[in-house]
Amino acid sequence: MLLLPDSFGVTRDCGDWNNAKNLKRENMAQIFDPLSIRSITLPNRIVVSPMCEYSSIDGFANDWHLVHLGSRAVGGAGLVFTEATAVTPEGRISPEDLGIWSDAHIEFLARITHFLKSQGCVPGMQLAHAGRKGSTQKPWVGSEKLSLEEGAWVPVAPSAIAYSDKYPFPKELSKEGIRGVVEAFANAARRALDAGFRVLEIHAAHGYLIHEFYSPLSNKRTD
Ligand SMILES: Cc1cc2nc3c(=O)[nH]c(=O)nc-3n(C[C@H](O)[C@H](O)[C@H](O)COP(=O)(O)O)c2cc1C
Repeated sequence: MLLLPDSFGVTRDCGDWNNAKNLKRENMAQIFDPLSIRSITLPNRIVVSPMCEYSSIDGFANDWHLVHLGSRAVGGAGLVFTEATAVTPEGRISPEDLGIWSDAHIEFLARITHFLKSQGCVPGMQLAHAGRKGSTQKPWVGSEKLSLEEGAWVPVAPSAIAYSDKYPFPKELSKEGIRGVVEAFANAARRALDAGFRVLEIHAAHGYLIHEFYSPLSNKRTD
């Protein structure tokens, strides 16, 4: 017997796993145990991270997303997140990003959450705005700034500083523009709830808009 505290401070027997008498429920890994967080109970602790699929037209989910997310639910994951889902069209990384800036996006997303729930899985959505890293090609085309023929738009950022010379030159958000983005996140959250999502994650990393606001490299504002 080797008694050690686990990460929750509970003493567990960590020794002699070849001895069947150690195979007690309280000694086992907890990955398959339910986890309650506020009003949500996950059936287990397996969570599928958001993964951009670059497979949408005009932000709409389609069969690809149903199968991609649905198959993770069939596999038994307790919580499955959608990819980074744009709260405005100019907040997309590429023209093929998933979006939730319009009520019309809700219907197919609801079909996906309905299926995920039918598998005992909790549906989650990651809400995102790419900021100055928007208006780029999908990765397998090159991840570089879009040409006009490819449908380029002018992305927005805290300051008018491009991420690199391979990225588009962004427009500095006005105070009004910042309020608009906050509102877009709130409206997207309401639509996500209407579509049946039970967990929301705000994307504030990877150099996207919110991250740009808290980095001195991309935020030179004085207001
Ligand atoms: C194909 C692919 C797409 C991804 N898209 C997103 C995304 O949309 N949002 C995000 O926050 N992270 C994204 N990531 C990062 C993953 O969510 C995850 O954080 C990363 O793979 C590290 O986790 P891991 O160590 O479990 O692989 C993506 C990763 C991959 C492989």
